[in-house]
This record gives sequence, structure tokens and C-alpha cells, in this order.
Amino acid sequence: MAEINGPKHVAIIMDGNGRWAQMRGRPRLMGHHAGARRVREIVEACPAQGVKYLTVFAFSTENWKRTQSEVAGLMKLFRRYIQREARDLLANGVRVRFIGDRVRLDDKLVKMMDELELLTSDNDKIHLTVALNYGGRDEVARATKRLAFDVAAGKLAPKDVGDETLAQYLDTCFLPDPDLVIRTSGEARISNFLLWQSAYAEYEFIETLWPDFTADVFAQVLGNYQTRDRRFGAVKV
Ligand code: FPP
Repeated sequence: MAEINGPKHVAIIMDGNGRWAQMRGRPRLMGHHAGARRVREIVEACPAQGVKYLTVFAFSTENWKRTQSEVAGLMKLFRRYIQREARDLLANGVRVRFIGDRVRLDDKLVKMMDELELLTSDNDKIHLTVALNYGGRDEVARATKRLAFDVAAGKLAPKDVGDETLAQYLDTCFLPDPDLVIRTSGEARISNFLLWQSAYAEYEFIETLWPDFTADVFAQVLGNYQTRDRRFGAVKV
């Protein structure tokens, strides 16, 4: 049964794939493939943990700076993941959505993303959001641009713009804010992930490399969350 105080929305910065592969004398892409298998395992673990929303950082706006072969390998992996997993995601009640700027992604991948979103749009058991070509600053800038166009078109009055207004223009407008953000591989930084949405999130930075992040490790991290005292800026009375 789901824990009453468990996080409803968990967001994960899946770091350490490259090091995991290099430690084994294998190419970095091997680590990404092993990482993709963990995504499946963690999605499957969510219902038993009471996690309704899972958001994973798969490719950042900065990841284009990697070698051309790693970027191409990752894009191929995303296409393969969609192709291979679509049927099970649908059958398992997973609703998949993507956040990030699609403009720089290749047309074939974007078409597959659109189709998977449509295919799973009636599902409601787990909401899996994949951040692809995503950056928090880029998201806020794109949202602000759309909002400015609406102001210029007279659809929105400047005096009515507040934080909830901007939130509706973000890629994540369909999601609640994350309760818990996990980063694997021992790095303690946010790397431009869900900057706006994580204002009151709890963070867990753990040493485990992403390809070693099993359902058991996930359960342990969620257990730590239960001990947190979330006050959202208020004082407990
Ligand atoms: C960071 O590790 C990981 C990435 C940039 C890619 C994440 C992608 C996956 C886990 C694969 C598939 C995901 C889906 C949703 C299909 P890193 O390469 O920076 O590791 P390092 O810090 O050890 O070099």
C-alpha cells in the first residue's frame, strides 16, 4: 500500500551513465543503454510506492555539447526506447509526456514522441514525463515569450500576470510541482532541471550511479523522504 506521506511527484536527474560504462571499460553509450533499462524498472516500481508522477531528465539543452557520436547514439536510444516500450507503457496504465524544446530534435523523433503522447493519453495510473532537450531557463524564457505575445495580442492584461499565470505557460503546466528531486552519482547540483517547479522540493543527492539505481535503492530514498519536515516557508503550530 502507498505510504500516506510519500512523495506524489518524484523527479530524477539520472546521472552517472558514462562513468558506469567507463568503470567497466565500455563505451559511454553502453551506460546510457543500461540507464534506459533502469527507467523501466523505476516506472514499474512507482505504483507500489504511491508515486503518481515521475519526471526524468533524459537530455538537457546543454547535452548537445557532447561528442557528435554520443548525441547521435542518445537520439537513437530515445527512438528505440519509444518503439520498444510503447506497447507495455500503454498496457501498464502509464501516460507519457515530454517536456523541453522540440524544435532542435529531429522530425522522426518528434513524430514518435507525439504518437506516444497520443497513444497513452487516456492512461492515468502513472504519469511519466520525459525531459528531452530541456533546460529550466530555456523553459522560462519560452514561456515568457508566449506570455508576452498574449499580452501584445490583448489576451492577457499585464496587471493579471502572477506566478500562477506564468506556471500555466511552462512545459509542465499539466504537472504538480515535484515533492522530491533525486540526483544520482554523487554530484550535488541542479543542472538547470525544473528550476521554477522545485522551489519547495526536497532534494536527495545519492552516490549510486544511475545504471545501479534499482527499485530497492528507490525505496530507500523514498524512505528517507518520510523523515523530512516540509514547512513550505511556514511555521508548524
Ligand atoms: C547523464 O549521465 C545521463 C544522460 C545525459 C542521459 C540520460 C539518459 C538515459 C538514462 C537513457 C534513456 C532515458 C530514457 C527516458 C529512455 P552522464 O552521461 O552525464 O554520466 P557521467 O556524468 O558519468 O558522464
